[in-house]
Amino acid sequence: MMPKTAPADEAGTWARSLAFRALLNDGRRVRVRPVVPADRANLAAGLARMSPRSRYFRFHSQVSRLSEARLRYLSEVDFREHVAWAALAIDEPGSPGVGVARFVRDREHPESAEFAVTLLDEWQGFGLGSLLLRTLMGSAAQRGIGQLVAPVLAEHEAALHLIERLGGRRARVEDGVVDMILPVRRALRASRPVRPTLLLHGRTA
Ligand SMILES: CC(C)(COP(=O)(O)OP(=O)(O)OC[C@H]1O[C@@H](n2cnc3c(N)ncnc32)[C@H](O)[C@@H]1OP(=O)(O)O)[C@@H](O)C(=O)NCCC(=O)NCCS
Repeated sequence: MMPKTAPADEAGTWARSLAFRALLNDGRRVRVRPVVPADRANLAAGLARMSPRSRYFRFHSQVSRLSEARLRYLSEVDFREHVAWAALAIDEPGSPGVGVARFVRDREHPESAEFAVTLLDEWQGFGLGSLLLRTLMGSAAQRGIGQLVAPVLAEHEAALHLIERLGGRRARVEDGVVDMILPVRRALRASRPVRPTLLLHGRTA
């Protein structure tokens, strides 16, 4: 795990050591690595590139910008209680961030964590959400987290399907929001390969 007070260059080196590349089902390639503090600008730029619909699905309201405090929270991840992985488009100039998946451990129920996955619109539907969620499940298992939960809008077929496809189930439904529960170890054990995604060269920077 990343040292608690890792300076920026140390965090970068650590993130690079865990990075891997993957091929999506349309042939585009991504690099997946832990989120580091330097991603603050990536996160702000990513939000600006998302459609209102995707923002609504992610935040359940029309968020148009993130405050500095919120960007800091989302990028300064301790990789213990708060874990986040980013996907970067390696074939685009500057390798912009195109997706992120994170979980935050529930303080009162430490075997549980709330998660979210967010992709730019033009990167949706090609297996990247599945890849990031599977990566997140691996991190959860390593940290003794038994279940990942996500509140998902009932009309959000893509997210409901994605989570069910990986072994999750629908729990409570209230005010148009479905609490999705993903039992981590069972889902990892079932380990159904996610069809569209091929790992390239295993783990490599
Ligand atoms: C929800 C989201 C993460 C899904 O990621 P994705 O990369 O588009 O999903 P995948 O390509 O990995 O597809 C996973 C499964 O969902 C299915 N799926 C994708 N889009 C779908 C849609 N609109 N309706 C129904 N099923 C859909 C795929 O066919 C696939 O199922 P299969 O393996 O049985 O064929 C992505 O669309 C997204 O970022 N949306 C905006 C942000 C958001 O809503 N976040 C909240 C999620 S907690």
